[in-house]
Amino acid sequence: MLSVAGLKKIYPGRGWKAAPVVALDDVSFTLGPGESLGILGESGSGKSTLGRLVSRLIEPTAGRILFDGEDIGAISPQSFVHATRRREIQHIFQDAAENLTPHMTAYAAIADPLRRLMGLSDVETRVHELADSVALSRDLLHRYPHQLSGGQKARVGIARGLASQPRLLVLDEPTAALDVSVQAAILKLLHRLRGEFGMSYLVITHDVGVVRLMCERVLIMRHGRVVETGETAHVLANPQSDYGRTLLASVPKLPAGKLSRP
Ligand SMILES: Nc1ncnc2c1ncn2[C@@H]1O[C@H](COP(=O)(O)OP(=O)(O)OP(=O)(O)O)[C@@H](O)[C@H]1O
Ligand SMILES: [Mg+2]
Repeated sequence: MLSVAGLKKIYPGRGWKAAPVVALDDVSFTLGPGESLGILGESGSGKSTLGRLVSRLIEPTAGRILFDGEDIGAISPQSFVHATRRREIQHIFQDAAENLTPHMTAYAAIADPLRRLMGLSDVETRVHELADSVALSRDLLHRYPHQLSGGQKARVGIARGLASQPRLLVLDEPTAALDVSVQAAILKLLHRLRGEFGMSYLVITHDVGVVRLMCERVLIMRHGRVVETGETAHVLANPQSDYGRTLLASVPKLPAGKLSRP
């Protein structure tokens, strides 16, 4: 379904005399229908850049992004906003503040993609269904982001992402901003939704625990390059690269409650 080949992103330098930043260099992978791939790496390794490229929010410097064989990398972010594919690939941002606009109620935030991407005019039933899907109480729909807890905001963001019935969700650090107990609930929710709707996930995270729970395959990145990729169980149990070993050795061993595959 998704096939990324030789993807490269260079950001122009910021400020005077600043050198350009090679954020991503020659990244390739594939992702099948219903599959979940973890993108694991330390801060600055290029994970969010990769996610933004796949969601067509920024332009690649080189490489191809094929979705059902179509090179969506060649579609500019401006045109992609109006493309049918926009419905199929949805991005959930690292920062809840980026997902939700302060002046929009939860209802308006969920209704927006229903109107804009799905062309619906009567959205109420769908907004309620989506709130139910993410276990967000309907009483909360009239609230603004600042009147919601972190977990509730995360649910609104996910409902918004689901509104267009996407085939691929790009989840950029979906739980990084949440308390540990809330993290577990949101991860469970995401896991359940994937089973229910059969979507594919690209899960961007620096948290090995998230990969262990959510992803069948993992790709480890460092300095914009792929250092290792494979089945999660194999890679986590027996990393082949020096960097993979270092990264995994730095994780405290928690008794992770494993979720079954959806
Ligand atoms: N708009 C931009 N302009 C210039 N450089 C950027 C821009 N966005 C990101 N970078 C740089 O590109 C590199 C990769 O950044 P990216 O945000 O993709 O990393 P990340 O792995 O998501 O990190 P984190 O875990 O901290 O979110 C970093 O060196 C970053 O400073
Ligand atoms: Mg990031």
